[in-house]
Amino acid sequence: TDIEKGTYPHFMLKEIDEQPFVIRKIIQEYQDEHDQIKLDPNVRQAMLNCDRVYIIACGTSYHAGLVGKQFMEKLANIPVEVHVASEFSYNMPLISEKPLFIYISQSGETADSRSVLVQTNAKDYPSLTITNAPGSTLSREADYTLHLHAGPEIAVASTKAYTAQLAVLVILAVDTAQAKGIELNFNPMQELAIVANAMEALCDQKEEMEKIAAEYLTVARNCFFIGRSADFFVGLEGALKLKEISYIQAEGFAGGELKHGTIALIEEGTPVIALATQANVNYSIRGNVKEVAARGAYPCIISMRGLDQEGDTFVLPEVHELLTPLVSVIPLQLIAYYAALHRDCDVDKPRNLAKSVTVE
Ligand code: G6P
Repeated sequence: TDIEKGTYPHFMLKEIDEQPFVIRKIIQEYQDEHDQIKLDPNVRQAMLNCDRVYIIACGTSYHAGLVGKQFMEKLANIPVEVHVASEFSYNMPLISEKPLFIYISQSGETADSRSVLVQTNAKDYPSLTITNAPGSTLSREADYTLHLHAGPEIAVASTKAYTAQLAVLVILAVDTAQAKGIELNFNPMQELAIVANAMEALCDQKEEMEKIAAEYLTVARNCFFIGRSADFFVGLEGALKLKEISYIQAEGFAGGELKHGTIALIEEGTPVIALATQANVNYSIRGNVKEVAARGAYPCIISMRGLDQEGDTFVLPEVHELLTPLVSVIPLQLIAYYAALHRDCDVDKPRNLAKSVTVE
């Protein structure tokens, strides 16, 4: 490949570090000279025409879709369903009268997602692909494309594509809200600029993440990520990163679901990484941390400034509450990276995985 690692030991670390620049690039690409959102008017119209959005994706892109659903529902007041492509393909739910299908795919080549697109095209449902590869199969075969502008992502474990997907999804949601005449007290470009600065600050704190990885994950057999609301979705992504590259069995759970089964797995010393970035569930997630700690878990609490409490392991810089996933994912990416490094794993090319999966 022509893309070089430069001074970086791994593409993954380089791509983690690129995230603030990618967010600033997206702000530039999606803004006109009057500081208004610049977006394909056909995409805007498709959003206005639909009565429900169906997001179809796999892996990390699916996790971005879960957060994107919140953006669209909370900002633009459009109902959204998020589906794993390989499930949707063989077990299609009832579709609303005026659906819009949004395919989220870094590569634009994922066969599972394409299989759904072929089916929705056969039914003439409108479709939009959000991808890092315009010109890819999913981009060509969908009606519209939004470009992530993240630059080539080489490491198998996706990092900058995820945060780029979230940025484009929030811009799309705000654009739709504006087109619908919904008054928002939220300037996406300003808030994303704050996110980019916060990301930069976090990328400067790698030693802290390395310490957390060393302390919690050097000998761990498993690790749980817990969160509520948006933090739950980021926990799923954090767990995926960790399992992909460190081979530690990692799972993300909704804080409130622990007591319905998973808490049985907690043993003396089990690492539990808890996210606390959401004001309305701060009290309840703290309760969940106490429950696992009382059963011997070794909790690592990553909170957001303003919601932090004494004893938290790491405190994130404050960003708009809707956008916390773009920031809280960074320590999880870095913790996974250092955990893999400490365990001598091949960070950029983990076993059994491919960057782009072109078979169903
Ligand atoms: C593969 C990659 C994952 C990625 C998923 C979806 O499994 O290893 O990192 O999230 O495919 O890829 P896409 O290109 O469709 O976003």
